[in-house]
Amino acid sequence: MIKGDSSEYNLITDQIQKLQIGDVCLTCEIGLREGLGTKTIIDAVRKQEPKFYKHIAIDPYGDLSYEHYDGEGYVVAGYTEEMKQRTVSHLYKVYPEFTFFHMTDDYFFDTMSQGHQFCIENTLMLYGLYKVVHLDGPHTTKAVINELSFFIPRIDSKGLIIIDDYIDIKMGIVDMLLKTYNFNVAAKGDNKIVYQKEI
Ligand SMILES: C[S@@+](CC[C@H](N)C(=O)[O-])C[C@H]1O[C@@H](n2cnc3c(N)ncnc32)[C@H](O)[C@@H]1O
Repeated sequence: MIKGDSSEYNLITDQIQKLQIGDVCLTCEIGLREGLGTKTIIDAVRKQEPKFYKHIAIDPYGDLSYEHYDGEGYVVAGYTEEMKQRTVSHLYKVYPEFTFFHMTDDYFFDTMSQGHQFCIENTLMLYGLYKVVHLDGPHTTKAVINELSFFIPRIDSKGLIIIDDYIDIKMGIVDMLLKTYNFNVAAKGDNKIVYQKEI
């Protein structure tokens, strides 16, 4: 049911296992596809039993034509509405922590910058600090920098930013941006790189 299209999901699990997760936890994946990144994050966070946990997944599906990699031009890759229906309904069924935003990353940034509502002891609280973020939507340098501009000020203490297919991105500028804001490389594979906020 749940499938992935990449590798090194174990890097995500390993790094989350090392985190100290408090009572309230927010995680996010950009680019859900068939759900393996999201499942990996939720399963790893669940082991630490946060009292209040929400995982946000953002994906427009809709067989969109868009630039997946720098200089590739616009391509349709088969991320269909049928895939959305199948994946999202399954994840809602098995994970109460799961919340889906059917939209592009940039529209999410325009509309959801203030955080997410958590219901704590019958009272609503707005919380917007992300502990783990997996950037696995469009892999152009421009899209990733746009995503980082949103998430960098919204990462929780010691939080993680994982970038998939980082070898296809102009990492010089991405690395400089992250290091400027006190993120360092915590783990690196052939496809995924994990940055951790040092403070
Ligand atoms: C490489 S797949 C994601 C794979 C998934 N994370 C996994 O671990 O199996 C890329 C996904 O990004 C989505 N996507 C494309 N443009 C997007 C955008 N602007 N914002 C968010 N998601 C986007 C696609 O619809 C597709 O489902």
